[in-house]
Amino acid sequence: MKKIIIAIDGFSSCGKSTMAKALARNIGYLYFDSGAMYRAVALYCMQNGLINDTKIDIETLRGKMQDIQITFEADPDTKNSLTFLNGVNVEHEIRSLEVSRLVSQVAALDFVREEMVDRQREMGKAKGIVMDGRDIGTTVFPNAEMKIFVTASAEVRAQRRYDELTARGDNANFQEILDNVLQRDHIDQTREVSPLKQAEDALLLDNSNMTREEQMNWLIEKFNSLTE
Ligand code: CDP
Repeated sequence: MKKIIIAIDGFSSCGKSTMAKALARNIGYLYFDSGAMYRAVALYCMQNGLINDTKIDIETLRGKMQDIQITFEADPDTKNSLTFLNGVNVEHEIRSLEVSRLVSQVAALDFVREEMVDRQREMGKAKGIVMDGRDIGTTVFPNAEMKIFVTASAEVRAQRRYDELTARGDNANFQEILDNVLQRDHIDQTREVSPLKQAEDALLLDNSNMTREEQMNWLIEKFNSLTE
């Protein structure tokens, strides 16, 4: 069976990562979370005092890009992908609301995007991957054989993020999360470099009222029709 690249883009918190991970597992592909890379860069900025709510030390960050190593490893127990920043497991930290608040500013910087896109293309060289993000089907892999653009209402998305944070024992406030979802939507859609938009050849998936199983069946059907 021929190996393809599957690009999954869409709005924040619409379940892209869960869906992309499950799809990869189902079809025996590797999964890459491009958002985790931007989150790791944002965390690096926080750890090194390069960012606060209003300002990023752009010139210092530019000079440090080659010092930011981001790698993925499978969790030995769950097999889920874990994100490492310079050799340290940061999977939990990068999902915090504080990183969520700062990440879109970092992801809007042209030199950050260029560097991450280069690294992402490298990961896709051998094909057989599912990658999710905001610009995977438009910029990173414009020739991806299968492109999905996922969306759901902002309230549904905020509720999912709320459930995810509370399930892992974090404090969460629904209104704060909804505000964050709307704010990131705005920054992601209006930034100059690779704004979030549906690729012309992407299939639209609105999963507001879909179960995970319905969604998976839909994806597998598309995948089979492209690889048979
Ligand atoms: O948590 P959620 O799934 O909403 O987002 P994520 O995939 O973890 O990505 C976090 C942030 O990184 C997004 O809000 C975008 O600002 C940025 N991002 C991006 O600009 N391009 C990508 N390919 C992936 C993420």
